[in-house]
Amino acid sequence: MSAATISFARGAPSLDIVDVSGLAVAAQAAFAADPAGLTGYGTAVGYGPLREWIAHQHDVSPDHVIVTNGSMQADAFLFDTLVQAGDTVVVEAPTYDRTLLALRERGAAVLAIPLEADGIDVGALERALSAGAAPTLAHIIPNFQNPAGYTLSLQKRRALLGLAAEYGFTIFEDDPYREVRFSGESLPTMLSLDPARVVYASSFSKIVCPGVRVGYLVGQPELIAQITRLATNTYISPSMLAQGIVNQFVRSDAFSAAIATVKSALAQRAAALGAALARELPDARFQIPDGGYFMWVQLPEDTDGDALHAAALERGLQFVKGSDFLIEGGASALRIAYSGVSVAEIDEGVRRLADAYAAVTARADAAA
Ligand SMILES: Cc1ncc(COP(=O)(O)O)c(C=O)c1O
Repeated sequence: MSAATISFARGAPSLDIVDVSGLAVAAQAAFAADPAGLTGYGTAVGYGPLREWIAHQHDVSPDHVIVTNGSMQADAFLFDTLVQAGDTVVVEAPTYDRTLLALRERGAAVLAIPLEADGIDVGALERALSAGAAPTLAHIIPNFQNPAGYTLSLQKRRALLGLAAEYGFTIFEDDPYREVRFSGESLPTMLSLDPARVVYASSFSKIVCPGVRVGYLVGQPELIAQITRLATNTYISPSMLAQGIVNQFVRSDAFSAAIATVKSALAQRAAALGAALARELPDARFQIPDGGYFMWVQLPEDTDGDALHAAALERGLQFVKGSDFLIEGGASALRIAYSGVSVAEIDEGVRRLADAYAAVTARADAAA
């Protein structure tokens, strides 16, 4: 048994599923095609040819798009533009921990609505709205949600858009995992269903590599122009070099091959994780996702999540506690990222998790 630490914590691809040589070829092609564009400051809206490619993917004109240094930067610009201290912002519970942090930092009143296996509980949101909640924005991760791995159904996508229109709020569709679906049918983006109500963010982190730091926003031109001013004042322009490389990569045959590699590895890893949990940890409740990087694992409610986390670390296993993704609760849940680990590491990691769980429950039983 290897004593090396296994990380179920990082939502990143393992190196073996990053097309490093394809990226090197794309870099050479990018320098050859446009040396001035790659080495100059460029413009705050992003590298022109990549901006056009993204606009084409979403069937909008380029003035609807700004390309940023990762979608984290896009999220920060959007929150700085649309969220004032005291504004109510709807989030899913659980949600991406960095969204919670970003909203807290800006003094937003976070309205957490429970997440179900088919997406946010729109009935609970509707009740909150009719009881007087007046959000300016709703942050939604529609596909293979971080941290839960769940996907918003088409019916709920339409219902959410209906509520946004009725109550006058914007939907922030944060969608970096859309292209890594490994089973089932792809669903339309909310952006495509109602472009006026939705600001959309995505990223090349999950399909190319996170180190390239290229993400983007799609929204109404006035909002994009406002964010462009903020971007200019923040960094003059994002990295033209990185965006030039991505531009060559996504326009080459290597791109679809790279996505296929990522999807087949993720499918294999998710299945292996499900099988290992069923075998080693029968108390765990979970659903194998149709895509993405994450699985949400719930243990019996009286499980001490902090103690489990500590016991797992002692055994060389890292994961993120469920409580990190919620304002309250989640102590007996955990997020497992299976994107960065091999099937062998998944098997060994789940053995360590089961061992940690057995130790924590035995201690709790002894204390009772
Ligand atoms: C829902 C969500 N939004 C945004 C991001 C940030 O991605 P990027 O690497 O493009 O900054 C992540 C990364 O894990 C994410 O899960």
